[in-house]
Amino acid sequence: MKKTMMLVLTMIMVCGFTAAVMAADKPNGDERKGKYNFRQTCRQCHKAGGSAKELGPDSKTMAQWQRTFEKESYAKLACKAEWDKLAAADLNDTLSYLYNHAFDSPSPAKCK
Ligand code: HEC
Repeated sequence: MKKTMMLVLTMIMVCGFTAAVMAADKPNGDERKGKYNFRQTCRQCHKAGGSAKELGPDSKTMAQWQRTFEKESYAKLACKAEWDKLAAADLNDTLSYLYNHAFDSPSPAKCK
């Protein structure tokens, strides 16, 4: 009886921990604001016929967007100065928009 209780408790703890880790991984910004930021700050160059390659949410996978938005990653890009125009919260919103509609997300999208 005691053993069963311990097993059940352990299971509950493991599940709760996994859920917490997964929730922390997913960006939790405002994707509507993120879309606005992306259009205002990034799309002027990253569009068809623009000065840099066309980019939209479905240009990358969720994991690739997360990696791109790490400071060590975007600090190496040609357009680092453009990223620096966005505050941390704005970057988080922008990541949320791109992530939620990434290539391998449930609802992939282009930037229209
Ligand atoms: C002034 C023009 C300009 C703006 C604005 C700009 N970029 Fe860039 N970006 C470039 C150029 C030029 C490159 C390097 C050449 C290329 O990849 O087309 C680049 C490269 C990149 C890359 C690497 C290419 C890849 O596929 O991984 C990413 C990601 C990127 N930019 C994202 C952004 C994001 C997000 C923003 C908005 C915060 C932004 N850029 C704003 C010009 C710009």
